[in-house]
Amino acid sequence: MDPNLHTLFKLCLIFANTLMTRGLSDTDGADLSFTQWPRLLQCNQTVLLLEMERCGERFIIDMNRVQPDDRCNLTHFIREYHVFSFCTEMNTERVGCFWPNPVVERFIISIHKHFFSNCSLERVLFADPPDDTLTLLILIPVFLTLAMVVLVVWCSKRSDILA
Ligand SMILES: *[C@@H]1O[C@H](CO)[C@@H](O)[C@H](O)[C@H]1NC(C)=O
Ligand SMILES: *[C@@H]1O[C@H](CO)[C@@H](O)[C@H](O)[C@H]1NC(C)=O
Ligand SMILES: *[C@@H]1O[C@H](CO)[C@@H](O)[C@H](O)[C@H]1NC(C)=O
Repeated sequence: MDPNLHTLFKLCLIFANTLMTRGLSDTDGADLSFTQWPRLLQCNQTVLLLEMERCGERFIIDMNRVQPDDRCNLTHFIREYHVFSFCTEMNTERVGCFWPNPVVERFIISIHKHFFSNCSLERVLFADPPDDTLTLLILIPVFLTLAMVVLVVWCSKRSDILA
């Protein structure tokens, strides 16, 4: 398997695993509200968005150090992407919000659009054979959205059973 593809695949698996674990532990709590922990800090979306923008700014600075020609090549920015991803997760939890959540998801998708939309368009417009890595980069937001929907449905089903 292409090492880039392999890394992204692993990212997806880790993410899916996180979702499942969170889903399981959270159904034990009474509050199934998607964007906040049932205890401690109250999730404030204004604060959350500010934190995400700070992660985004750092990612933009990091990505600007990558040569423009390499900005569609995951090998050249996987470390920066990891830092960004870690930053969103840590800070979401630090301000008392559930990770992932729709605000964070929308933000990550906007970052993907900003940086990687050119990568896909070129390929699509010139009808090159699809590059697996790029396909996956495009699929990640789709996967995030799908995972979110599945988790919400699954959690609400479980709460119906428990109720
Ligand atoms: C969220 O945080 C902002 C900025 O600190 C504050 O102005 C706002 O009142 C807070 N909102 C809630 C619902 O606590
Ligand atoms: C990405 O960069 C690496 C390292 O420079 C290179 O070996 C690889 O061929 C590049 N992949 C693509 C698809 O350009
Ligand atoms: C995408 O392409 C457009 C037009 O060539 C360019 O203006 C823009 O800066 C590019 N965006 C990125 C993130 O490279």
